[in-house]
Amino acid sequence: SGGVADAKNLRVKLVLLGDSGVGKSCIVLRFVRGQFDPTSKVTIGASFLSQTIALQDSTTVKFEIWDTAGQERYAALAPLYYRGAAVAVIVYDITSPETFNKAQYWVKELQKHGSPDIVMALVGNKADLEEKREVPTHDGIDYAEKNGMFFIETSAKTADNINQLFEEIAKRLP
Ligand code: GTP
Ligand code: MG
Repeated sequence: SGGVADAKNLRVKLVLLGDSGVGKSCIVLRFVRGQFDPTSKVTIGASFLSQTIALQDSTTVKFEIWDTAGQERYAALAPLYYRGAAVAVIVYDITSPETFNKAQYWVKELQKHGSPDIVMALVGNKADLEEKREVPTHDGIDYAEKNGMFFIETSAKTADNINQLFEEIAKRLP
């Protein structure tokens, strides 16, 4: 199987969650436009972008991406964006343990209130800042494994693992 005859066109609602400043908007900008903005502004409410990728079996996956605002004042809006989402990408900053704690909060919230079959990815971003790392890679791996999530470390700045993140998600779609 996997030939052209099996090709499908999937549409997938994806939500990004995580503390303010972890790099959610930069990950999306890198994935959708191939750019990095060192002066990225905080997101107000949420923003929407879409991007289509082709898999090896010529299936296409159109990601409809809700990039939420991480500032605490917007936390109450999150259910509007994660409700009905097939995929949640929960992002922390590898230089900031507080953001790793916040990521765990979002995982629990989605386990309680997200779709039961949601695909969850845990992303440690800013992997280019290795000299400032405060969250060991194995902490991310362990937490993701215990919670049945896919785990990856990325850098929106260098583009490291950004396309891989979305390709791996696409492979895990039900
Ligand atoms: P909110 O919209 O407030 O929730 O924040 P956010 O998660 O969208 O953060 P944003 O993408 O705006 O990035 C915040 C800051 O981190 C910006 O100054 C970015 O330039 C920087 N940044 C984002 N990703 C990376 C990365 O991979 N490496 C480095 N070194 N800096 C990054
Ligand atoms: Mg943002």
